[in-house]
Amino acid sequence: MLLILLWASRSIASAETPVEIGRRIYREGMLPGDKPVVALIQGDIVVSGQRAACIHCHQRSGYGVVEGNQVVPPITARSLFQPRPVQGSRAGLERPAYRHDSLRRALHDGINPNGRTLQAPMPRYVLEDSEMSALIQYLQSLTANPPAGVTNEALHLATIVTDAVPAQQRRALLGVLDKYIQDKNADIRLMQRGGFGHSQLFRSWQLHVWELHGNPATWGEQLEQHFRQQPVFAVLGGVGNGSWREIHRRCEHLALPCLLPNTDEPFTSQDYFYSMYFTRGIEQEADVLAQHLREHEISAPRRIVQIYRKEMAGETAAARLQHALAEVHHIQLQDRAVAGNTPIDAVFWQDVFASRADSYVLWLADNDLAAIDKQPDKHNPTIYISSSHVPHPAATIQPALRKHTSIVQLHELPAMWQQQRTRLDNWLRVHQLAQLDERIEANTTQLLSLFNLALSHLQQEDLSGEQLIERLEHLTPITHAWPSRYPQFSLGAGQHVGSQGGYVVPMRADGSLPHEARWIIPQGTQPRVQKSETSSGIGTAANNHE
Ligand code: HEC
Repeated sequence: MLLILLWASRSIASAETPVEIGRRIYREGMLPGDKPVVALIQGDIVVSGQRAACIHCHQRSGYGVVEGNQVVPPITARSLFQPRPVQGSRAGLERPAYRHDSLRRALHDGINPNGRTLQAPMPRYVLEDSEMSALIQYLQSLTANPPAGVTNEALHLATIVTDAVPAQQRRALLGVLDKYIQDKNADIRLMQRGGFGHSQLFRSWQLHVWELHGNPATWGEQLEQHFRQQPVFAVLGGVGNGSWREIHRRCEHLALPCLLPNTDEPFTSQDYFYSMYFTRGIEQEADVLAQHLREHEISAPRRIVQIYRKEMAGETAAARLQHALAEVHHIQLQDRAVAGNTPIDAVFWQDVFASRADSYVLWLADNDLAAIDKQPDKHNPTIYISSSHVPHPAATIQPALRKHTSIVQLHELPAMWQQQRTRLDNWLRVHQLAQLDERIEANTTQLLSLFNLALSHLQQEDLSGEQLIERLEHLTPITHAWPSRYPQFSLGAGQHVGSQGGYVVPMRADGSLPHEARWIIPQGTQPRVQKSETSSGIGTAANNHE
């Protein structure tokens, strides 16, 4: 498949438009015919390919970065093709608007329209005339148009609800979004009346609910249909049962920021830029558990049986656990797959426990576990249970079984979370919202506070989805003031999964969980996000040029 795609992309390379050629120079440092771009820094340091790509310093949005004293200026169409007035401490950096020939001179000879020499690390580029024009055409297109879903008056936003989402979860999601956006729009009207005029900062937010039906394999297509009917600037959260893969891929394809949905099956195993997640979901649970098993199930040999239903999230988790334990030779992990429609009853469990494994991993939901009516006789196994399958273990796990049970979970332990959630409770109370689903309420309020903060820092006349993502990446942890259900939540360049770890905790006899446990961060499972290497820190250049 990949080969065919590669072949196809090569064979059409000759038909690339100038803007596409320019985009590839900008983002990948590659020229037509797959030759790397070559450039010189400080007269003698040769850089080529990815290191010479503009994205490396100016970011995907063209907004650049500020890092200590080092400023990489914005090179969007709007900033390049207008004169730059600079007052105060940065005086001396003003310059007239670029034109085609002066931009060529800047890129080739490193001289700006004032005759000032551009300082290192800005490279000098060796490009053919046609390549140079292609690059300049791409720069002319860089955020030249308002992004999808943005008008002078409104910022259109969407959220996603898929089939088979319980009514309670749906109400929790839409309740929080509606109230938050009502507040926001009331503020905006106040600002407008208060004489701030109709600044574009004060666009009202308009939410569209995208319902996706049927087979998850078709969700991407449906999403695109919604988007074509009503373009939006970003997708805020959402809730779904089933793999997020097609949604993820379509968001990347449409260059549409899709932020922090409630899904146990995100898709983070390829290069991506426009999506962000709270966790890697069920795969992260499997990785956390694998790490725990490696450290705790040490008396050799250990036989562990994992049980899951075919064609469901559990199957993904089971495959991941097999993969993660493949190298651990003293653990023998056996699979027991159950067809989706086969009932799991007391007889099934007797049979399972008769196999007398050392431990069991159950990627199964409440109703399947409810059928366990007896504790395993005569042996003392540990039973690992996934909290994304069983959100309320105390209500599900029979008292006799609790002393055997350990819960795998990615969110904060109840005792710790209680201390933080006051702010969320207050917010719900003030907005007359009943507590319906803690996960969705906590996640959606956190998402909205991050989005609102990032948005307020964007260059409003020159909005872009790329700028939004970069701004979210650069919010410092201290600005993550809203309580998060996930310990150590933080986003960054190349880090679009906010929380990387999880707990494996033994259940107590009364069904509660301990107050403390070790936070496990699985090794070697960093997601792959496309990033520019300079952007390790502080803020985007947008701030300084506002
Ligand atoms: C290694 C980092 C780096 C790379 C790669 C890089 N730039 Fe720059 N660029 C800079 C820095 C730093 C400046 C500011 C230099 C100054 O003002 O003295 C700059 C300045 C510029 C300017 C002048 C902006 C102005 O307002 O006068 C333009 C235009 C520009 N870069 C375009 C590009 C393009 C197009 C590419 C890719 C083909 C690129 N740069 C690649 C770091 C980089």
